[in-house]
Amino acid sequence: MPDPTPRHIAIVMDGNGRWARKRFMPRGVGHKAGVDALVKVVQAAADRGVGFLTVFAFSSENWKRPEEEVSGLMSLLLVALSKHLVRLKADGVRIRIVGDLDQVSDKVRSALLDAQSATVGNSRLVLTVAFNYGGRWDIVQACRQAMAAGLAPEQLTEAELSRFMAMAYAPDPDLFIRTGGEVRLSNFLLWQSAYAELMFTDCLWPDFDAAELDRAIAEFGRRERRFGDVGSSGEGEGAIGAGEDASPQPPHCED
Ligand code: FPP
Repeated sequence: MPDPTPRHIAIVMDGNGRWARKRFMPRGVGHKAGVDALVKVVQAAADRGVGFLTVFAFSSENWKRPEEEVSGLMSLLLVALSKHLVRLKADGVRIRIVGDLDQVSDKVRSALLDAQSATVGNSRLVLTVAFNYGGRWDIVQACRQAMAAGLAPEQLTEAELSRFMAMAYAPDPDLFIRTGGEVRLSNFLLWQSAYAELMFTDCLWPDFDAAELDRAIAEFGRRERRFGDVGSSGEGEGAIGAGEDASPQPPHCED
């Protein structure tokens, strides 16, 4: 039986603003709570043997937000790194950054790259922080690199292009989670998520915790991954965690 634990989980951490508004607080408070949730989920994922966790921290579209919110997110990132980096490093987390860092301030770029360098020796869990990232940007930058490397059109295969994608070091995500109730990919890991199992939850990101992660992993174990093949013929057979209780779980996360 295949291992029901996804090797790579990607998360769109949505719902921070609504979480704060429900509490009559500024959106920035929600983002701060989002950082706390992220730190806990990283620990929980590592404990469960997930090898790669990739989170959408700042999309290439997030620049459209009010200037105050954008600068708040940048400041929060700096605070979060200075507060949590030592612990993450001690816990064996390797931080990697993907995204167009040419567009971010020197201070933010340095902090991100320093975190990456400081944890380069770790391998328990690779936490990829997608920052000023967009899936279309990634595909275009990969094509540009392939062209710059002198690849002829007939040499450009899926495998070749994959070598130039920003996350070439990681397996494709097995499980793609989006919190916050929206049901779309929002330009996250478009190339890499071709065969990911998609999971959408109403849970607002600051409420997402180890129990929610376990719920998502359990649901992943009930999915049948076919990768374009016909899969098994019997109902439930062939699911990743086949043999386990396949009954749907009640929703848990409530706000
Ligand atoms: C979406 O919630 C969330 C973000 C745009 C940022 C996610 C960032 C973190 C969890 C913190 C870690 C990252 C940084 C940059 C410090 P939303 O604001 O769209 O929520 P809403 O849909 O309820 O408005």
